[in-house]
Amino acid sequence: MPSAFDVLGKDHEEVKRMLSELELGPTAATGANSDQLALRKKMVQQLVIEESKHEAVEEMYFWPAVRDALTDGTDLANQAQSQEQEGKVVLDQLDKLAPEDEQFESLLAEFISAGREHIAFEETTVWPSLRSVLSAEQADELGQKLENGKKSAPTRPHPHTPASPGVLKTAGPAVAAADRLRDKATGRDE
Ligand SMILES: [Fe+2]
Ligand SMILES: [Fe+2]
Repeated sequence: MPSAFDVLGKDHEEVKRMLSELELGPTAATGANSDQLALRKKMVQQLVIEESKHEAVEEMYFWPAVRDALTDGTDLANQAQSQEQEGKVVLDQLDKLAPEDEQFESLLAEFISAGREHIAFEETTVWPSLRSVLSAEQADELGQKLENGKKSAPTRPHPHTPASPGVLKTAGPAVAAADRLRDKATGRDE
């Protein structure tokens, strides 16, 4: 069974791959044609979907576990969740822009750098401590919750929804279902 670190680590690799690909361009300013810009928009949408699901299940299951298990867990979780909140605000703006828009590339560049820092913070500052206190069974059990949670997680950032596990567990499914309906209606999930 994959552990929490396997599940989240796989997501991180996928997100880092997307960030590197986006970093390569081409962009509107470097002469991308309309097909390339349409693809760039699609790639950003995929990034928003992946990130939204990933951070939502961290909020629901991972940070509560960190808060419970580590003596400095509250501080670590607060730091990480404020990084996540900043990320959501940027992704939410980015999701509404076209690649030709003036702000698109600067917001994307901001996210690429902040997103990498956030992943590094989790993997190097949080994970080693959590690994040392969770049993293999606990890490697997948490992995299972994260994996299952992703199946019905929101696909948009929702920066105005409070990131508390309670709110997400009650309002989350309705929000996620609405996201998925909108994805279908707009072809965003293809
Ligand atoms: Fe995160
Ligand atoms: Fe993460």
